[in-house]
Amino acid sequence: MSEEKVLIFDTTLRDGEQSAGIGLTVQEKLEIARQLDRLGVDIIEAGFAASSPGDFEAVQTIARELRRPMIVSLARCHVGDVDAAWEAIKDAENPRIHVFISSSDVQILNQLRSDPERVMDLAVQSVERAKSYCDNVEFSPMDATRTDPDYLYAMLEAVINAGATTVNIADTVGYTFPTEFAERIRLIQENVPNIDKAVISVHCHNDLGMSVANSLGAIIAGARQVEGCINGLGERAGNAALEEIIMAIETRPDLFGVSTNIDTRQIYRTSRLVSDITGFPVQPNKAIVGANAFRHASGIHQDAILKERTTFEIMDPQAVGWPSNEMVLGKLSGRAGLRSRLEELGYNLKAEELNETFEQFKLLADKKREVSDADLVSLMSSQRRVVDVPAIFTLEHVQVASGNHEVPTATVKLVSSDGTSTTDAATGTGPVDAVYKAINRIVQVDNKLTEYRVDAVTEGIDALGDVTIRIEKDDQTYIGRGSDTDIIVASAKAYMNALNRLLGDGNGYTHNTDPSP
Ligand code: KIV
Ligand code: ZN
Repeated sequence: MSEEKVLIFDTTLRDGEQSAGIGLTVQEKLEIARQLDRLGVDIIEAGFAASSPGDFEAVQTIARELRRPMIVSLARCHVGDVDAAWEAIKDAENPRIHVFISSSDVQILNQLRSDPERVMDLAVQSVERAKSYCDNVEFSPMDATRTDPDYLYAMLEAVINAGATTVNIADTVGYTFPTEFAERIRLIQENVPNIDKAVISVHCHNDLGMSVANSLGAIIAGARQVEGCINGLGERAGNAALEEIIMAIETRPDLFGVSTNIDTRQIYRTSRLVSDITGFPVQPNKAIVGANAFRHASGIHQDAILKERTTFEIMDPQAVGWPSNEMVLGKLSGRAGLRSRLEELGYNLKAEELNETFEQFKLLADKKREVSDADLVSLMSSQRRVVDVPAIFTLEHVQVASGNHEVPTATVKLVSSDGTSTTDAATGTGPVDAVYKAINRIVQVDNKLTEYRVDAVTEGIDALGDVTIRIEKDDQTYIGRGSDTDIIVASAKAYMNALNRLLGDGNGYTHNTDPSP
Protein backbone atom coordinates (compact mmCIF):
# COMPACT_ATOMS: atom_id res chain seq x y z
CA MET A 1 0.00 0.00 0.00
CA SER A 2 1.25 3.46 -0.92
CA GLU A 3 2.57 5.71 1.83
CA GLU A 4 1.03 8.77 0.23
CA LYS A 5 -2.35 9.52 1.78
CA VAL A 6 -5.43 11.26 0.49
CA LEU A 7 -7.25 12.94 3.35
CA ILE A 8 -10.96 12.20 3.53
CA PHE A 9 -13.00 15.28 4.45
CA ASP A 10 -16.60 14.48 5.28
CA THR A 11 -19.18 17.25 4.92
CA THR A 12 -22.34 15.18 5.45
CA LEU A 13 -23.17 17.29 8.49
CA ARG A 14 -22.73 20.59 6.62
CA ASP A 15 -23.21 20.35 2.84
CA GLY A 16 -25.14 17.07 3.24
CA GLU A 17 -27.45 18.68 5.72
CA GLN A 18 -28.11 21.43 3.17
CA SER A 19 -30.02 18.84 1.06
CA ALA A 20 -33.62 19.94 0.68
CA GLY A 21 -35.70 18.02 3.23
CA ILE A 22 -32.92 17.17 5.68
CA GLY A 23 -32.59 18.75 9.07
CA LEU A 24 -30.83 17.06 11.93
CA THR A 25 -30.93 17.58 15.65
CA VAL A 26 -27.72 18.05 17.64
CA GLN A 27 -28.05 14.51 18.99
CA GLU A 28 -28.47 13.06 15.50
CA LYS A 29 -25.44 14.98 14.21
CA LEU A 30 -23.39 13.72 17.12
CA GLU A 31 -24.40 10.16 16.38
CA ILE A 32 -23.40 10.49 12.73
CA ALA A 33 -20.12 12.15 13.77
CA ARG A 34 -19.32 9.22 16.10
CA GLN A 35 -19.87 6.80 13.24
CA LEU A 36 -17.71 8.93 10.89
CA ASP A 37 -15.02 8.66 13.55
CA ARG A 38 -15.35 4.84 13.51
CA LEU A 39 -15.18 4.95 9.73
CA GLY A 40 -11.86 6.73 10.08
CA VAL A 41 -12.50 9.96 8.15
CA ASP A 42 -9.65 12.41 8.74
CA ILE A 43 -11.77 15.55 8.87
CA ILE A 44 -15.39 16.20 9.83
CA GLU A 45 -17.04 19.44 8.76
CA ALA A 46 -19.47 19.53 11.66
CA GLY A 47 -21.50 22.50 10.45
CA PHE A 48 -21.63 26.21 9.82
CA ALA A 49 -21.49 27.73 13.29
CA ALA A 50 -22.73 31.22 12.38
CA SER A 51 -25.77 29.96 10.47
CA SER A 52 -28.00 29.15 13.47
CA PRO A 53 -27.79 28.49 17.22
CA GLY A 54 -28.54 24.81 16.51
CA ASP A 55 -25.61 24.55 14.11
CA PHE A 56 -23.33 26.31 16.57
CA GLU A 57 -24.31 23.88 19.32
CA ALA A 58 -23.81 20.87 17.04
CA VAL A 59 -20.33 21.99 15.97
CA GLN A 60 -19.35 22.74 19.57
CA THR A 61 -20.71 19.45 20.90
CA ILE A 62 -18.88 17.43 18.24
CA ALA A 63 -15.66 19.47 18.74
CA ARG A 64 -15.76 18.74 22.47
CA GLU A 65 -16.50 15.05 22.20
CA LEU A 66 -14.50 13.63 19.30
CA ARG A 67 -10.77 13.63 19.90
CA ARG A 68 -9.27 11.89 16.84
CA PRO A 69 -10.67 13.54 13.70
CA MET A 70 -10.07 17.17 12.82
CA ILE A 71 -13.26 19.20 13.41
CA VAL A 72 -14.14 22.02 11.04
CA SER A 73 -16.66 24.84 10.99
CA LEU A 74 -17.51 26.69 7.79
CA ALA A 75 -17.43 30.53 7.75
CA ARG A 76 -18.20 33.18 5.15
CA CYS A 77 -15.71 36.01 4.76
CA HIS A 78 -17.44 37.91 7.57
CA VAL A 79 -15.78 38.83 10.84
CA GLY A 80 -18.77 37.45 12.78
CA ASP A 81 -18.69 34.13 10.93
CA VAL A 82 -14.98 33.57 11.52
CA ASP A 83 -15.36 34.46 15.20
CA ALA A 84 -18.37 32.15 15.63
CA ALA A 85 -16.51 29.33 13.85
CA TRP A 86 -13.60 29.65 16.25
CA GLU A 87 -15.83 29.91 19.30
CA ALA A 88 -17.54 26.65 18.28
CA ILE A 89 -14.39 24.62 17.56
CA LYS A 90 -11.86 26.05 19.96
CA ASP A 91 -12.16 23.08 22.37
CA ALA A 92 -11.39 20.55 19.63
CA GLU A 93 -8.17 18.56 19.82
CA ASN A 94 -7.61 19.34 16.18
CA PRO A 95 -9.62 22.39 15.00
CA ARG A 96 -9.85 23.97 11.54
CA ILE A 97 -11.68 27.06 10.25
CA HIS A 98 -12.96 26.78 6.67
CA VAL A 99 -13.41 30.17 5.02
CA PHE A 100 -15.05 30.56 1.62
CA ILE A 101 -16.06 33.24 -0.87
CA SER A 102 -17.23 33.27 -4.48
CA SER A 103 -14.45 33.66 -7.03
CA SER A 104 -16.28 33.49 -10.40
CA ASP A 105 -17.36 36.70 -12.11
CA VAL A 106 -20.93 35.48 -12.43
CA GLN A 107 -21.22 35.08 -8.64
CA ILE A 108 -19.07 38.07 -7.64
CA LEU A 109 -21.06 40.47 -9.82
CA ASN A 110 -24.57 39.07 -9.46
CA GLN A 111 -24.68 37.42 -6.07
CA LEU A 112 -22.19 39.41 -4.00
CA ARG A 113 -22.73 42.59 -6.07
CA SER A 114 -19.08 43.27 -5.55
CA ASP A 115 -15.91 43.32 -7.65
CA PRO A 116 -12.90 40.97 -7.89
CA GLU A 117 -10.47 43.32 -6.03
CA ARG A 118 -12.81 43.73 -3.06
CA VAL A 119 -13.43 39.96 -2.94
CA MET A 120 -9.68 39.31 -3.01
CA ASP A 121 -9.21 41.68 -0.03
CA LEU A 122 -12.03 40.06 1.91
CA ALA A 123 -10.59 36.60 1.28
CA VAL A 124 -7.15 37.63 2.54
CA GLN A 125 -8.49 39.51 5.59
CA SER A 126 -10.74 36.60 6.57
CA VAL A 127 -7.97 34.03 6.25
CA GLU A 128 -5.71 36.29 8.35
CA ARG A 129 -8.41 36.59 11.00
CA ALA A 130 -8.99 32.82 11.00
CA LYS A 131 -5.23 32.27 11.24
CA SER A 132 -5.03 34.56 14.27
CA TYR A 133 -7.18 31.96 16.08
CA CYS A 134 -6.19 28.69 14.51
CA ASP A 135 -3.11 27.33 12.73
CA ASN A 136 -5.19 25.20 10.46
CA VAL A 137 -7.18 27.23 7.92
CA GLU A 138 -8.89 26.03 4.77
CA PHE A 139 -9.90 28.45 2.04
CA SER A 140 -12.44 27.69 -0.71
CA PRO A 141 -12.88 29.82 -3.81
CA MET A 142 -16.54 29.09 -4.44
CA ASP A 143 -17.38 28.25 -8.08
CA ALA A 144 -13.66 27.81 -8.77
CA THR A 145 -14.31 25.78 -11.91
CA ARG A 146 -16.03 28.77 -13.57
CA THR A 147 -13.42 31.23 -12.32
CA ASP A 148 -10.94 33.00 -14.59
CA PRO A 149 -7.76 30.89 -14.14
CA ASP A 150 -5.41 33.86 -13.61
CA TYR A 151 -7.68 35.36 -10.96
CA LEU A 152 -7.90 31.94 -9.28
CA TYR A 153 -4.09 31.53 -9.21
CA ALA A 154 -3.67 35.03 -7.76
CA MET A 155 -6.32 34.39 -5.12
CA LEU A 156 -4.79 31.06 -4.08
CA GLU A 157 -1.33 32.63 -3.84
CA ALA A 158 -2.69 35.49 -1.71
CA VAL A 159 -4.62 33.30 0.73
CA ILE A 160 -1.69 30.90 1.13
CA ASN A 161 0.51 33.91 1.96
CA ALA A 162 -2.17 34.95 4.47
CA GLY A 163 -1.91 31.55 6.18
CA ALA A 164 -4.27 29.08 4.44
CA THR A 165 -2.96 25.55 4.87
CA THR A 166 -5.51 23.89 2.57
CA VAL A 167 -7.01 25.34 -0.62
CA ASN A 168 -10.21 23.70 -1.73
CA ILE A 169 -11.05 23.87 -5.42
CA ALA A 170 -14.84 23.81 -5.46
CA ASP A 171 -16.89 22.69 -8.44
CA THR A 172 -19.85 24.31 -6.72
CA VAL A 173 -22.34 23.90 -9.56
CA GLY A 174 -21.13 20.51 -10.85
CA TYR A 175 -20.01 22.02 -14.15
CA THR A 176 -16.63 20.51 -14.87
CA PHE A 177 -15.52 17.22 -16.50
CA PRO A 178 -12.83 14.79 -15.28
CA THR A 179 -10.14 15.61 -17.86
CA GLU A 180 -10.81 19.35 -17.63
CA PHE A 181 -10.77 19.34 -13.82
CA ALA A 182 -7.58 17.28 -13.64
CA GLU A 183 -5.97 19.81 -15.99
CA ARG A 184 -7.11 22.67 -13.74
CA ILE A 185 -5.52 20.98 -10.72
CA ARG A 186 -2.32 20.43 -12.69
CA LEU A 187 -2.23 24.07 -13.83
CA ILE A 188 -2.79 25.30 -10.26
CA GLN A 189 0.35 23.40 -9.25
CA GLU A 190 2.23 24.98 -12.14
CA ASN A 191 0.98 28.56 -11.70
CA VAL A 192 0.64 29.17 -7.97
CA PRO A 193 4.22 29.74 -6.78
CA ASN A 194 3.61 28.92 -3.09
CA ILE A 195 1.26 25.96 -3.68
CA ASP A 196 3.72 23.61 -1.95
CA LYS A 197 2.77 25.33 1.35
CA ALA A 198 -0.85 24.12 1.14
CA VAL A 199 -2.72 20.89 0.55
CA ILE A 200 -4.88 20.91 -2.57
CA SER A 201 -8.40 19.78 -1.84
CA VAL A 202 -11.37 19.24 -4.15
CA HIS A 203 -15.10 19.60 -3.51
CA CYS A 204 -17.34 18.42 -6.35
CA HIS A 205 -21.09 18.63 -6.83
CA ASN A 206 -23.05 16.15 -8.88
CA ASP A 207 -25.25 18.22 -11.19
CA LEU A 208 -24.05 16.33 -14.27
CA GLY A 209 -23.48 13.05 -12.41
CA MET A 210 -19.74 13.65 -12.58
CA SER A 211 -18.76 14.46 -8.99
CA VAL A 212 -17.00 11.18 -8.14
CA ALA A 213 -15.21 10.99 -11.50
CA ASN A 214 -14.10 14.63 -11.17
CA SER A 215 -12.79 14.04 -7.64
CA LEU A 216 -10.87 10.94 -8.75
CA GLY A 217 -9.41 12.77 -11.75
CA ALA A 218 -8.20 15.48 -9.38
CA ILE A 219 -6.53 12.92 -7.11
CA ILE A 220 -4.62 11.50 -10.06
CA ALA A 221 -3.57 15.09 -10.88
CA GLY A 222 -2.24 15.69 -7.35
CA ALA A 223 -5.12 16.68 -5.01
CA ARG A 224 -4.48 15.24 -1.55
CA GLN A 225 -7.74 16.04 0.22
CA VAL A 226 -11.14 15.08 -1.13
CA GLU A 227 -14.46 16.35 0.19
CA GLY A 228 -17.80 14.61 -0.06
CA CYS A 229 -20.81 13.21 1.74
CA ILE A 230 -21.96 9.73 2.70
CA ASN A 231 -24.54 8.42 0.20
CA GLY A 232 -23.77 11.43 -2.02
CA LEU A 233 -26.02 13.76 -0.01
CA GLY A 234 -25.72 17.50 -0.52
CA GLU A 235 -27.11 20.58 -2.23
CA ARG A 236 -29.28 19.88 -5.31
CA ALA A 237 -27.97 16.65 -6.94
CA GLY A 238 -25.58 16.21 -4.03
CA ASN A 239 -21.85 16.07 -3.37
CA ALA A 240 -19.42 13.35 -4.39
CA ALA A 241 -20.32 10.08 -2.60
CA LEU A 242 -17.40 9.41 -0.26
CA GLU A 243 -17.93 5.65 -0.17
CA GLU A 244 -17.51 5.53 -3.97
CA ILE A 245 -14.31 7.58 -3.92
CA ILE A 246 -12.86 5.49 -1.10
CA MET A 247 -13.63 2.17 -2.77
CA ALA A 248 -12.29 3.37 -6.13
CA ILE A 249 -8.99 4.22 -4.44
CA GLU A 250 -8.99 0.85 -2.63
CA THR A 251 -9.91 -1.18 -5.68
CA ARG A 252 -7.54 0.47 -8.18
CA PRO A 253 -4.22 1.08 -6.39
CA ASP A 254 -2.59 0.62 -9.80
CA LEU A 255 -4.29 3.82 -10.99
CA PHE A 256 -4.18 6.01 -7.90
CA GLY A 257 -1.06 4.97 -6.03
CA VAL A 258 -2.41 6.53 -2.83
CA SER A 259 -4.25 5.23 0.22
CA THR A 260 -6.71 6.49 2.83
CA ASN A 261 -7.07 6.01 6.58
CA ILE A 262 -10.55 4.57 6.20
CA ASP A 263 -11.78 1.34 7.81
CA THR A 264 -13.82 0.25 4.80
CA ARG A 265 -15.69 -2.37 6.87
CA GLN A 266 -17.59 0.53 8.46
CA ILE A 267 -18.91 1.84 5.14
CA TYR A 268 -22.19 -0.08 5.00
CA ARG A 269 -23.06 0.73 8.58
CA THR A 270 -22.28 4.43 8.07
CA SER A 271 -24.44 4.54 4.96
CA ARG A 272 -27.33 2.85 6.78
CA LEU A 273 -27.08 5.16 9.74
CA VAL A 274 -27.01 8.30 7.58
CA SER A 275 -29.96 7.07 5.51
CA ASP A 276 -31.88 6.13 8.61
CA ILE A 277 -31.29 9.41 10.43
CA THR A 278 -31.84 11.67 7.43
CA GLY A 279 -34.80 9.71 6.07
CA PHE A 280 -33.13 9.76 2.61
CA PRO A 281 -33.29 6.25 1.12
CA VAL A 282 -30.37 4.78 -0.82
CA GLN A 283 -31.37 3.81 -4.37
CA PRO A 284 -31.12 0.01 -4.86
CA ASN A 285 -28.59 0.22 -7.70
CA LYS A 286 -26.36 2.77 -5.95
CA ALA A 287 -22.68 1.77 -6.15
CA ILE A 288 -21.13 0.23 -2.99
CA VAL A 289 -24.11 0.64 -0.63
CA GLY A 290 -27.27 0.06 -2.72
CA ALA A 291 -29.31 -3.07 -1.94
CA ASN A 292 -28.37 -4.58 -5.33
CA ALA A 293 -24.71 -3.55 -5.31
CA PHE A 294 -23.55 -7.11 -4.64
CA ARG A 295 -26.59 -9.02 -5.84
CA HIS A 296 -26.22 -11.19 -8.94
CA ALA A 297 -29.43 -11.88 -10.81
CA SER A 298 -28.17 -13.61 -13.94
CA GLY A 299 -27.79 -17.39 -13.68
CA ILE A 300 -24.54 -17.25 -15.66
CA HIS A 301 -23.07 -14.76 -13.19
CA GLN A 302 -24.29 -16.74 -10.17
CA ASP A 303 -22.72 -19.89 -11.54
CA ALA A 304 -19.41 -18.12 -12.14
CA ILE A 305 -19.41 -16.46 -8.71
CA LEU A 306 -19.88 -19.84 -7.04
CA LYS A 307 -16.83 -21.11 -8.90
CA GLU A 308 -14.70 -18.04 -8.28
CA ARG A 309 -15.98 -14.84 -6.65
CA THR A 310 -13.72 -12.51 -8.60
CA THR A 311 -15.26 -13.52 -11.94
CA PHE A 312 -18.02 -10.96 -11.45
CA GLU A 313 -17.09 -9.16 -8.21
CA ILE A 314 -14.39 -6.51 -8.16
CA MET A 315 -14.88 -5.87 -4.43
CA ASP A 316 -15.55 -8.23 -1.57
CA PRO A 317 -18.89 -7.22 -0.03
CA GLN A 318 -17.46 -8.03 3.42
CA ALA A 319 -14.73 -5.44 2.82
CA VAL A 320 -17.38 -2.69 2.87
CA GLY A 321 -19.08 -4.27 5.88
CA TRP A 322 -21.98 -5.71 3.95
CA PRO A 323 -23.97 -8.02 6.27
CA SER A 324 -23.20 -11.59 5.32
CA ASN A 325 -26.61 -13.12 6.05
CA GLU A 326 -24.75 -16.39 6.51
CA MET A 327 -25.69 -16.71 10.14
CA VAL A 328 -29.39 -16.25 10.73
CA LEU A 329 -30.74 -15.97 14.25
CA GLY A 330 -34.12 -17.27 15.37
CA LYS A 331 -36.29 -17.53 18.44
CA LEU A 332 -34.08 -20.19 20.01
CA SER A 333 -30.98 -17.99 19.74
CA GLY A 334 -29.61 -16.78 23.04
CA ARG A 335 -28.17 -13.54 24.34
CA ALA A 336 -24.59 -14.62 23.58
CA GLY A 337 -25.45 -15.40 19.95
CA LEU A 338 -27.17 -12.05 19.57
CA ARG A 339 -24.28 -10.18 21.17
CA SER A 340 -21.71 -11.90 18.96
CA ARG A 341 -23.72 -11.20 15.79
CA LEU A 342 -24.22 -7.56 16.78
CA GLU A 343 -20.51 -7.20 17.49
CA GLU A 344 -19.72 -8.51 14.03
CA LEU A 345 -22.06 -5.87 12.64
CA GLY A 346 -20.17 -3.22 14.62
CA TYR A 347 -22.53 -2.70 17.60
CA ASN A 348 -20.85 -3.01 20.98
CA LEU A 349 -23.60 -2.85 23.57
CA LYS A 350 -23.39 -2.32 27.30
CA ALA A 351 -25.08 -5.01 29.44
CA GLU A 352 -28.33 -3.07 29.95
CA GLU A 353 -28.51 -2.10 26.27
CA LEU A 354 -28.07 -5.75 25.33
CA ASN A 355 -30.90 -6.74 27.71
CA GLU A 356 -33.26 -4.21 26.14
CA THR A 357 -32.25 -5.22 22.61
CA PHE A 358 -32.64 -8.90 23.47
CA GLU A 359 -36.24 -8.27 24.57
CA GLN A 360 -36.98 -6.56 21.24
CA PHE A 361 -35.15 -9.30 19.36
CA LYS A 362 -37.32 -11.99 21.02
CA LEU A 363 -40.50 -10.13 20.06
CA LEU A 364 -39.27 -9.93 16.47
CA ALA A 365 -38.14 -13.58 16.39
CA ASP A 366 -41.62 -14.61 17.55
CA LYS A 367 -43.07 -12.96 14.46
CA LYS A 368 -40.32 -13.87 11.98
CA ARG A 369 -38.85 -17.35 11.70
CA GLU A 370 -35.42 -16.03 10.73
CA VAL A 371 -33.85 -12.77 11.88
CA SER A 372 -31.24 -11.67 9.34
CA ASP A 373 -28.42 -9.15 9.67
CA ALA A 374 -30.55 -6.58 7.84
CA ASP A 375 -33.32 -7.13 10.42
CA LEU A 376 -30.81 -6.62 13.23
CA VAL A 377 -29.57 -3.36 11.70
CA SER A 378 -33.19 -2.17 11.49
CA LEU A 379 -33.82 -3.28 15.09
CA MET A 380 -30.81 -1.29 16.27
CA SER A 381 -32.11 1.77 14.42
CA SER A 382 -35.49 1.49 16.15
CA GLN A 383 -33.78 1.17 19.51
CA ARG A 384 -31.86 4.36 18.84
CA ARG A 385 -35.05 6.22 17.94
CA VAL A 386 -36.65 5.22 21.23
CA VAL A 387 -33.63 6.43 23.21
CA ASP A 388 -33.15 9.69 21.27
CA VAL A 389 -36.67 11.07 21.25
CA PRO A 390 -38.46 11.93 24.51
CA ALA A 391 -41.49 9.64 24.99
CA ILE A 392 -44.18 12.23 25.66
CA PHE A 393 -46.71 9.70 24.37
CA THR A 394 -46.07 5.97 23.97
CA LEU A 395 -48.07 3.71 21.70
CA GLU A 396 -49.56 0.94 23.81
CA HIS A 397 -52.06 -0.62 21.45
CA VAL A 398 -53.25 -0.24 17.87
CA GLN A 399 -55.97 -2.19 16.16
CA VAL A 400 -57.48 -1.70 12.71
CA ALA A 401 -60.46 -3.07 10.80
CA SER A 402 -60.38 -2.52 7.06
CA GLY A 403 -61.30 -4.23 3.84
CA ASN A 404 -62.81 -3.58 0.43
CA HIS A 405 -66.35 -3.31 1.86
CA GLU A 406 -65.51 -1.66 5.18
CA VAL A 407 -64.90 1.86 6.37
CA PRO A 408 -61.36 1.65 7.77
CA THR A 409 -61.59 2.06 11.53
CA ALA A 410 -58.75 2.26 14.04
CA THR A 411 -58.56 2.09 17.80
CA VAL A 412 -55.42 3.27 19.58
CA LYS A 413 -54.31 3.43 23.18
CA LEU A 414 -51.57 5.90 24.14
CA VAL A 415 -49.84 6.37 27.48
CA SER A 416 -48.58 9.86 28.29
CA SER A 417 -45.39 10.55 30.23
CA ASP A 418 -47.37 11.12 33.45
CA GLY A 419 -48.75 7.57 33.17
CA THR A 420 -52.28 8.45 32.01
CA SER A 421 -53.59 6.09 29.38
CA THR A 422 -56.18 7.17 26.81
CA THR A 423 -58.04 5.13 24.21
CA ASP A 424 -59.80 6.59 21.17
CA ALA A 425 -61.02 5.52 17.75
CA ALA A 426 -61.50 7.07 14.31
CA THR A 427 -62.40 6.21 10.75
CA GLY A 428 -60.32 7.22 7.74
CA THR A 429 -59.85 6.88 4.00
CA GLY A 430 -57.49 3.96 4.64
CA PRO A 431 -56.15 2.08 7.66
CA VAL A 432 -53.13 4.36 8.13
CA ASP A 433 -55.31 7.47 7.85
CA ALA A 434 -57.68 6.00 10.45
CA VAL A 435 -54.78 5.27 12.84
CA TYR A 436 -53.37 8.80 12.41
CA LYS A 437 -56.79 10.35 13.00
CA ALA A 438 -57.31 8.28 16.14
CA ILE A 439 -53.87 9.34 17.44
CA ASN A 440 -54.70 12.99 16.60
CA ARG A 441 -57.86 12.79 18.71
CA ILE A 442 -55.70 12.01 21.74
CA VAL A 443 -52.59 14.12 21.09
CA GLN A 444 -54.49 17.10 19.66
CA VAL A 445 -51.63 18.83 17.85
CA ASP A 446 -52.37 20.20 14.39
CA ASN A 447 -49.88 19.09 11.77
CA LYS A 448 -49.66 18.22 8.10
CA LEU A 449 -48.33 14.90 6.80
CA THR A 450 -46.04 15.80 3.88
CA GLU A 451 -44.32 12.48 3.18
CA TYR A 452 -45.07 8.82 3.85
CA ARG A 453 -42.85 5.97 2.70
CA VAL A 454 -42.66 2.22 3.38
CA ASP A 455 -39.53 0.17 2.66
CA ALA A 456 -39.12 -3.55 3.18
CA VAL A 457 -35.95 -4.37 5.14
CA THR A 458 -35.58 -7.84 3.60
CA GLU A 459 -37.47 -9.88 1.03
CA GLY A 460 -40.25 -12.26 1.91
CA ILE A 461 -43.78 -11.99 3.14
CA ASP A 462 -42.63 -11.68 6.76
CA ALA A 463 -40.19 -8.81 5.99
CA LEU A 464 -39.88 -5.97 8.46
CA GLY A 465 -41.48 -2.81 7.11
CA ASP A 466 -39.63 0.47 7.74
CA VAL A 467 -41.93 3.48 7.59
CA THR A 468 -40.53 7.02 7.21
CA ILE A 469 -42.77 10.06 7.42
CA ARG A 470 -42.40 13.83 7.54
CA ILE A 471 -44.92 16.08 9.26
CA GLU A 472 -45.00 19.89 9.31
CA LYS A 473 -46.17 22.42 11.84
CA ASP A 474 -45.44 26.17 11.84
CA ASP A 475 -42.86 25.82 9.03
CA GLN A 476 -40.94 23.20 10.98
CA THR A 477 -40.48 19.67 9.67
CA TYR A 478 -40.29 16.60 11.88
CA ILE A 479 -39.11 13.19 10.67
CA GLY A 480 -40.62 10.03 12.12
CA ARG A 481 -39.58 6.43 11.61
CA GLY A 482 -40.93 3.09 12.77
CA SER A 483 -40.35 -0.61 11.97
CA ASP A 484 -42.52 -3.65 12.43
CA THR A 485 -43.52 -6.78 10.56
CA ASP A 486 -46.98 -5.15 10.40
CA ILE A 487 -46.83 -1.98 8.31
CA ILE A 488 -49.85 -0.44 10.06
CA VAL A 489 -48.05 -0.80 13.39
CA ALA A 490 -44.83 0.53 11.79
CA SER A 491 -46.85 3.51 10.49
CA ALA A 492 -48.27 4.18 13.96
CA LYS A 493 -44.77 3.99 15.48
CA ALA A 494 -43.42 6.39 12.85
CA TYR A 495 -46.19 8.89 13.58
CA MET A 496 -45.58 8.67 17.35
CA ASN A 497 -41.86 9.20 16.70
CA ALA A 498 -42.56 12.37 14.67
CA LEU A 499 -45.17 13.67 17.15
CA ASN A 500 -42.83 13.14 20.11
CA ARG A 501 -40.17 15.17 18.26
CA LEU A 502 -42.73 17.89 17.63
CA LEU A 503 -43.87 17.92 21.26
CA GLY A 504 -40.34 17.69 22.66
CA ASP A 505 -38.61 21.05 22.50
CA GLY A 506 -36.27 21.88 19.62
CA ASN A 507 -36.48 18.59 17.75
CA GLY A 508 -37.73 20.02 14.46
CA TYR A 509 -35.87 21.93 11.83
CA THR A 510 -36.25 24.78 9.41
CA HIS A 511 -33.78 25.25 6.64
CA ASN A 512 -31.65 28.06 7.87
CA THR A 513 -28.20 26.84 6.93
CA ASP A 514 -27.91 28.67 3.64
CA PRO A 515 -24.23 29.50 3.32
CA SER A 516 -24.62 32.19 0.65
CA PRO A 517 -22.40 35.17 1.28
O1 KIV B 1 -20.01 23.92 -3.02
C1 KIV B 1 -19.31 24.79 -2.48
O2 KIV B 1 -18.69 25.64 -3.12
C2 KIV B 1 -19.26 24.78 -1.02
C3 KIV B 1 -18.25 25.67 -0.40
C4 KIV B 1 -18.77 26.29 0.83
C5 KIV B 1 -16.98 24.91 -0.21
O3 KIV B 1 -19.93 24.02 -0.39
ZN1 ZN C 1 -20.68 22.37 -1.68
